[in-house]
Amino acid sequence: MGIRFGGDYNPEQWPEEVWAEDLALMKAAHVTMVTAGIFSWAKVEPRPGEWDFGWFDRVLDGLAGAGIEGCLATMTASPPPWLTHAHPEVLPQGPDGQRRWPGARQHFCPSSPVYRAYAVRLVERLAARYAGHPALAMWHVGNEYGCHTRQCFCDASAEDFRRWLRERYGSVDALNDAWSTAFWSQGYGDFAEVLPPRAAPTFPNPAQQLDYLRFSDRALRECYLAEREVLDRVTPGVPVTTNLMPQHKPVDAFGWAPHLDAMALDFYQDPQVADDHVRAGYVFDLMRSARGGQPWLLVEQAAGAVNWRPRNGPKPPGAMRLWSWQAVAQGADAVLFFQWRQSRGGAEKFHSAMLPHAGTDTRIFREVCELGRELAAVPGIEGARSKASVALLADWQSWWALELDSRPSTALDHSRIALEHYRPLFEAGVACDVVPPRAELAGYRMVVVPNLYLLTAEDAERLAAFVRGGGRLVVSFFSGIVDACDRVHPGAYPAPLREVLGLRVAEFWPLAQGRSVAVGDGDRDGAPAGRADLWSEEIVLEGARAVARFVEGELAGGPAVTRHAYGRGEAWYVGTRLEPALLRALLDEVRAAAGVAPVLPGLPAGVQAAVREGAGGRYVFLLNHGSGPVEVELPEPLRDALVPRAAAVTRVGLAARGVAVLTGPGRQEGGGGAGA
Ligand code: GLA
Repeated sequence: MGIRFGGDYNPEQWPEEVWAEDLALMKAAHVTMVTAGIFSWAKVEPRPGEWDFGWFDRVLDGLAGAGIEGCLATMTASPPPWLTHAHPEVLPQGPDGQRRWPGARQHFCPSSPVYRAYAVRLVERLAARYAGHPALAMWHVGNEYGCHTRQCFCDASAEDFRRWLRERYGSVDALNDAWSTAFWSQGYGDFAEVLPPRAAPTFPNPAQQLDYLRFSDRALRECYLAEREVLDRVTPGVPVTTNLMPQHKPVDAFGWAPHLDAMALDFYQDPQVADDHVRAGYVFDLMRSARGGQPWLLVEQAAGAVNWRPRNGPKPPGAMRLWSWQAVAQGADAVLFFQWRQSRGGAEKFHSAMLPHAGTDTRIFREVCELGRELAAVPGIEGARSKASVALLADWQSWWALELDSRPSTALDHSRIALEHYRPLFEAGVACDVVPPRAELAGYRMVVVPNLYLLTAEDAERLAAFVRGGGRLVVSFFSGIVDACDRVHPGAYPAPLREVLGLRVAEFWPLAQGRSVAVGDGDRDGAPAGRADLWSEEIVLEGARAVARFVEGELAGGPAVTRHAYGRGEAWYVGTRLEPALLRALLDEVRAAAGVAPVLPGLPAGVQAAVREGAGGRYVFLLNHGSGPVEVELPEPLRDALVPRAAAVTRVGLAARGVAVLTGPGRQEGGGGAGA
């Protein structure tokens, strides 16, 4: 089959005469898969229980006739007007009690039994009708769960929350204990008294808020699973997925991963952000890691500009190709777009599409066709995997807890801090997995833990065991502070990590906005000096040594960065937010100690390299994210996989935004890991 190529297909927006042209142009663009029907509910069920599938039959028959695979949507992301007219209780409610009105999309309470019943009824119909249809290759359930409606606070949600709490805690005493309700006279006598954390005079109970984030994620997932149950029963063997969003706080991608047959991602690189490809790198690595290295699907990106940022820049020539290949290099087996044909009306008419308003004689359409042709030329990439010897830990539970109110600082931003720790690894050309704290770490040489505020004692012990076994660990500030109920671990901070890090933290000193402090002069010569901001803390050494110290401010002379030999490995701790050059120097030092090499040696700045290897061969991807041409020396002769019968070379020239897909014999370098 090869790398799938195509996009969202919304034929209901167009008169039927246009569909034949769609199919012809899809063939010209080498489209192999489209996601059809995402927003078609009102069209297939125009009135309750009145079905009109005839037009959709013709769409699918057309796709099958053209040899294009259909990723069939379950159509449940935007309930039709009749549903909320008849059942206004389906509409979601904010923490302030305000209902959201229909008129856009995703206007449903995830816990609404009415919404779920109508959604499941529709999916039963769809699945029964299209079971065995030659176009049916995959199911796309819902759409971007939690994109607009992240949480609902209505009475149906409250009831569902109480059900979830009863299952989780069993007794109201256990709930009181978990939520520390002795504080502020919050003790419950009965589950019936419990509410969602609705708008209150001041901070709602943090453990209640944390549980409500967990519950809300679960409520969304139960919507997905209710539909999935129908699909598994009626069309067994057809893969099922849903499109996740990048760094999307409401939806725990690691928690959903076991329930998807393939991770599927929507990613919109921002052409107006110079290095957005680093954020892409992080998210792509997470997608690949979430199911143990299994290839994932890029199911939405833009061919050009989007319409939902304040200012929407187009993609300059070559950018769409470069960023598409980046996804493939980092493990994607599909490159799909939102959407096939640009809408004439509606809220997304200024969002680019594969086929723009101006038609086929456009740069975008030419670039789309060319990309489709290139991807079709290398079918052997499909299924190929990557290996990494570095893992970066990410965790939704900790993210949710970290960003609640009533913390030492509200300036700690999980996504930003994670990306800051990822960036030096990406820029050093190191292959990296992004895994949850419960992941198997034994195959890695180095593990980076950015700001993991919530850490269970069991997961902390896994980190300690990793170091004892010879691993190199880096932990940054405000990690290992609370348990799963947002209760401070007994013992000094960071209690479950004290032994492995060889230190304790006596007091937090978050820095005021705009304030920075100098760091340098550790217990060894030549320690890098520079500045740090956001956070500082009073560290007391208990076996670790300081490799950098604060050199000004109240904490002057105290450790800022420490290193501790533990078992057969070593652990570093970073008690502040180092400026990028310092963090890079530190991670370089840890990499050297861990023996972690880049994917290719001596890469010019701005060039990303990645390797995938599988039954179809070994592929080396070179991606020039820089603004000028570069030459890359290869450590071995490789040939251009996009050019038939190309000779093997040891040097490759890349234009700005240039891509090389090379192939050759041999095995990958590097250790094992989740991607192995
Ligand atoms: C999301 C949605 C699509 C569309 C695009 C626009 O990815 O899933 O329906 O709205 O955004 O970028």
